[in-house]
Amino acid sequence: MDSRVKKIREAAAFIKENIGGKTPEVGIVLGSGLGKLADVIEAEAVIPYAKIPNFAKSTAIGHKGNFIFGKLAGKYVCAMQGRFHYYEGYPMEQVTLPIRVMATLGIKVLLVSNAAGGLNQSFSVGDLMIIRDHINMLPNPLIGKNFDEFGDRFPDMTAAYDLNLIKKVESIAKRAKIPVRKGVYLGNTGPSYETPAEVRYYLSIGADAVGMSTVPEVLVARHCGIPVFGMSVITNISNTENACTKLNDGDDVVRAADAAADRMCKLFTKLIETL
Ligand code: HPA
Repeated sequence: MDSRVKKIREAAAFIKENIGGKTPEVGIVLGSGLGKLADVIEAEAVIPYAKIPNFAKSTAIGHKGNFIFGKLAGKYVCAMQGRFHYYEGYPMEQVTLPIRVMATLGIKVLLVSNAAGGLNQSFSVGDLMIIRDHINMLPNPLIGKNFDEFGDRFPDMTAAYDLNLIKKVESIAKRAKIPVRKGVYLGNTGPSYETPAEVRYYLSIGADAVGMSTVPEVLVARHCGIPVFGMSVITNISNTENACTKLNDGDDVVRAADAAADRMCKLFTKLIETL
């Protein structure tokens, strides 16, 4: 067997044993802003990544490293409390391993969240943005021998973000009177923030928000045929000029993401209710 597939199956088998053989219906990547959702899950099992065979340890600020299994809005879910970022130095295979593990465990849908810089100058700090599409500026995690067990060599990305899930969240947000934006997320490697020249460039190619995650996970989930919903919390507005005095800062990002947590958790919980 392909050694990469063996690693995925070993990790999934370890988890399956620790969750009494259950099958999670929904996979959630709790990025910045969605960490609080972990408190709402009626946790039945919390498995540190460090204990799972073949998993790496997460080191990014504001990110813990656990898989949480339990009930949320009546569904048995599997939530990643903390993710692996390419800028931490992990190869793409490690960054996306948990997604293939969740696929092996049987999730039917993947929900992802992140903190992002607002390229779109009409955005404000604290805005929530439904990701309607992405631009990938990271190495593609599907490069290399295809995982035939999971999907096709050349997966289509016409609707990387599920249109029905987007519609559902738009109507949930309207009913709950939670304002939401919709836009294109550009995934960068980081860890440096963008220069104003890069910001102007990314705006010119149609991006609304920029971040350092999510795209690899979405590409791998879509390769597995799993529908995806994604949301960004806008934690800072990108500088378009060098003279700007408001510099980007990791602590501001965490603070702004925390401030949006209640709204984001409400939308995700209500979405899961409908699944
Ligand atoms: N750029 C990239 N990633 C980010 C940003 C940003 O401005 N804010 C939060 N994550």
